[in-house]
Amino acid sequence: MVGLFSRTVVAATVRMPKWFVGWVSRRYVAGPSLNDAVEVMQRLSSEGACFTVDVLGEEITNLEQANFFLEEYVRVVDAISSNKLDANLSIKPTAFGLLIDKKKGMENIEKLVRMANEHNMFVRLDMEDHRVTTDTIQVVLDLHRQGLTNVGTVLQGRLFRTLDDINDLEVDLGPAADYRICKGIYLEPEEISYSGYQDIVDATNACIDRMLAAGAYCSIASHDLPVVEYAKSALESHGMGPGIPDPRPNAGPARNAKGPGYEFQMLLGVRGPLRRKLSAAGHRTRVYIPYGEKWYEYSIRRLKENPTVGAQVAKAFLMPWTNRP
Ligand code: FDA
Repeated sequence: MVGLFSRTVVAATVRMPKWFVGWVSRRYVAGPSLNDAVEVMQRLSSEGACFTVDVLGEEITNLEQANFFLEEYVRVVDAISSNKLDANLSIKPTAFGLLIDKKKGMENIEKLVRMANEHNMFVRLDMEDHRVTTDTIQVVLDLHRQGLTNVGTVLQGRLFRTLDDINDLEVDLGPAADYRICKGIYLEPEEISYSGYQDIVDATNACIDRMLAAGAYCSIASHDLPVVEYAKSALESHGMGPGIPDPRPNAGPARNAKGPGYEFQMLLGVRGPLRRKLSAAGHRTRVYIPYGEKWYEYSIRRLKENPTVGAQVAKAFLMPWTNRP
């Protein structure tokens, strides 16, 4: 039933005029320009949030297009520094060419991570679909081997492989491992991923447990109460919490511009009241800020990839009290 509703919403939305899609996505995307992103961050800073900035756009079709992302992210680093914002970067590895030419894609990402490192800024490699999971993790390992530790990736609870990835990364990176854990937005084949709601929640929570036990930095990226509440009790059982220096014996040193071993992360425009509640309780909360000219393509692709997003967007508009920005 929910599936049918979601697909209907998606089918209707992708046929709507661009202005309508723009009106819907306005709440989830800061705007077309970097200035829009800076303004949103300045406004939300008063709510105690910090940020991670995403230049919209993903898989590119030729390597020249990667230059656009490199140049734009350099502007983002400058804007974050000059406006003294508490923010870091989130990038899509395929936008840097990872699927076209692995070596060149890795070099492009390295350039950006080196440049961000000079500004003491962290770079998060968003995790895309299963075609690039192994390579994305590999990029992080290579960069750490070169001494660039201001980089980490995202792991997706829905993938069967994720617990093994955490175990492998514990061996390779030890306490320098720095993750964002989320459910995973891509609908993956059933041979490699969970598809039922409860299975995905349980698997994501198991990953949170494993990351915390491994001493890793753990960014919990979810708006779902069963995940957020589970994370809070898991943190408590490790003696972790707001204002407490990370007490885990295997934890790494305190990270620059990070929380005490963990933080919560949410998307711009989603579940603001929950984020503000976490922030008021002293938890570090980070908002994911997408911006860029490609907002239309981004919104439509997201809806087509995962129709449940359509249901969430519809719910947010029809029942705004469940999901205020
Ligand atoms: P769930 O989908 O159950 O949502 C709980 C509630 O939150 C919904 O009922 C709805 O009210 C609200 N909600 C959630 N998403 C919404 C939306 N888009 N619009 C409106 N309301 C919404 N995935 C990935 O594969 N790779 C990645 O790198 C990232 N990165 C990332 C960063 C951050 C900061 C976040 C918060 C999420 C991601 N994700 C991601 C997406 C993630 O995998 C997942 O798809 C979404 O967060 C939705 O899952 P929830 O855990 O929020 O639960």
